[in-house]
Amino acid sequence: MSGIKTLGEFLIERQSDYQYATGELSRIFGAIRLASRIVNREVNKAGLADIIGETGVENIQGETQQKLDVFADEKFMEALRVRGDICGIGSEEQDDFVAFESEHSKSGKYVLLMDPLDGSSNIDVNVSIGTIFSVYRRVSQIGTPAVLGDFLQEGRKQVAAGYVIYGSSTMLVYTTGGGVNGFTYDPSIGVFYLSHPDMIIPETGNIYSINEGNYIHFPDGVKKYIKYCQEEDIETHRPYTGRYIGSLVADFHRNLIKGGIYIYPNSTKAPDGKLRLLYECNPMAFLMEQAGGIATDGKRAILDIPATDLHQRVPLFIGSKKMVEKAHEFVAEFG
Ligand code: AHG
Ligand code: MN
Ligand code: MN
Repeated sequence: MSGIKTLGEFLIERQSDYQYATGELSRIFGAIRLASRIVNREVNKAGLADIIGETGVENIQGETQQKLDVFADEKFMEALRVRGDICGIGSEEQDDFVAFESEHSKSGKYVLLMDPLDGSSNIDVNVSIGTIFSVYRRVSQIGTPAVLGDFLQEGRKQVAAGYVIYGSSTMLVYTTGGGVNGFTYDPSIGVFYLSHPDMIIPETGNIYSINEGNYIHFPDGVKKYIKYCQEEDIETHRPYTGRYIGSLVADFHRNLIKGGIYIYPNSTKAPDGKLRLLYECNPMAFLMEQAGGIATDGKRAILDIPATDLHQRVPLFIGSKKMVEKAHEFVAEFG
């Protein structure tokens, strides 16, 4: 067993990466680990739903089987609520943030934002999906209920961020500001093992990821950059390969390992893009910068964008440093 390290052991060993009390971080990760194992179990049997008749019908208690993204929202919410370190949660699935009411929770020092199930349109077709999370120190007084200002902080202030990918294997990838580390889940014993230490994105790559079906609606700079990706040039390994899953977590994870660029731009259809700053772009940007890559809205670093709304949208250009810089050149020249 020598050399095999679990997520729990790793968190203790690398506590110096984290500037606050490690016990708190361990408990927050304990909750994330537990909820992700429960969601993983449900995701894995999603294909059985029709066969065993659990979806869209009432179960024996008279409850209707819930959609997986609502299920994931509830599981993460419950797991984090009981541990008391988190005083409130902002979620894609909730219009407003949830401030936990118990005295124990009100004394929590952190808030968490999450996309409980990312890429949910891919569930029914057995394609990888994920969970994204982002953790901040609260700015309001400890002992009081969480307020909106606790959630509307700049991405630069995140103290931890990560994702779980429910793919051909399930992985948890996270950062607390001391690099990025990835852990693969062994479902037979329910443990995450360190499998991808110190993840670094290649400086350049040959994958571009964008929903080209929206091409007609894209700004000229993005259209021109897509054409650049498709041109032949031996030195820069073009034409690049087009890869787009439609789950941000899965597209990000592949590009992080192989090198590449992911773009969800603003368009005439979606003037601010589609992805949400607080629980999609900020956590991914924190991970990407920690892995040596870049994340912007085409100009500004995502992590420096002021947060004004819980569900605020921003364009996203994220990936290998040289590729994002090249895309910026096109955006700067052609808009
Ligand atoms: P969610 O399932 O949490 O709503 O997120 C879906 C997001 C993201 O995962 C993905 O990259 C993007 O939407 C895909 O959007 P398009 O279908 O417009 O390409
Ligand atoms: Mn999402
Ligand atoms: Mn989602």
